[in-house]
Amino acid sequence: MDFLRSDIVCSLRAKEIGRSDKLKNYVSASVLSADMLDLGSEIRKLERSGIDMLHFDVMDGVFVNNITFGLPILEQVRKTSDITLDVHLMIQDPAKYIKRFAEAGADMISFHAESDSNATETLRLIRECGVRPAIAIKPATSAEAVFELLPNLDMVLVMTVEPGFGGQSFIPETVDKIRTIRSKITELGLDVNVEVDGGINDRTAAIVRNAGANVLVSGSYLFHAADMAAAANALKEDRIC
Ligand code: DX5
Ligand code: ZN
Repeated sequence: MDFLRSDIVCSLRAKEIGRSDKLKNYVSASVLSADMLDLGSEIRKLERSGIDMLHFDVMDGVFVNNITFGLPILEQVRKTSDITLDVHLMIQDPAKYIKRFAEAGADMISFHAESDSNATETLRLIRECGVRPAIAIKPATSAEAVFELLPNLDMVLVMTVEPGFGGQSFIPETVDKIRTIRSKITELGLDVNVEVDGGINDRTAAIVRNAGANVLVSGSYLFHAADMAAAANALKEDRIC
C-alpha cells in the first residue's frame, strides 16, 4: 500500500519544474454513494474500474447533521479488499477513535481542523498507529489554518462542499484555497497530497487538478456513471483548462 510514497518522487519532480499538475492523480471512491446492501459487489466493481482507494465518510450526527457508518463496516471491507482505505472522520472528537479506526483497517485518516480534538496530538496518534495522517478543512476555513501542520501531514483534505451529504454542487470559491495550499507545500519543499471532496465530476476535476489537487474523491459522479471505468479515467486524465 505504498502508492502515495511514489508521490514523493512525483512531487519533487513537479517542484523542480514548477508544475503541480505533474503530480500523480488518484481517485478515491466515496462509498456513501454505494448500495450498502450490496457493498461487496460494489467494491469489486470499483476495483475493476481502476479506482485507487475507497473513501469512508464517517459522520456522527454531531459534527455534521447526518449519521452514516463506522467501525463494523470498515472492518468487513478490510477483510474483503486490499484497496487503500481513506477514512474521512466527520466527528466531534476524532482523537478518541483513532486507534479503533486504525485497528479496523484504515490506511489513511482525515479528521477536521474544526473538530474538538487537538490537531497536533491527533496527528501524532494517527502516525503512532502506522496510519497516514490528513487534516480536513470545511469551505469556510482558511488555507492558513493548515500551514503550520503541513510538515506533519501526508495529505490535506479540502472540502469543496459543506460536509454532511453526497450529491451537492461544487463550491467554486474553494479553488483559490486549493491553489494557496499547493503553493505553500511546494514552497516548503514538502510531499503532501491535496485531496478534494464534494461535487467532483469530469468538469470540476479539471479545475481542481489545475489548482493543485491530486487526490479526487468522487461519489455520485462515479456511481451514477453508465461506465464507471471511463468516469474514473475522466477524473484522472490530463486536460488543458
Ligand atoms: C460529504 C462527503 C463526501 C461525499 C462526496 O460530506 O465527505 O465524501 O460523499 O460525494 P459527491 O461526490 O457525491 O459530492
Ligand atoms: Zn468525504
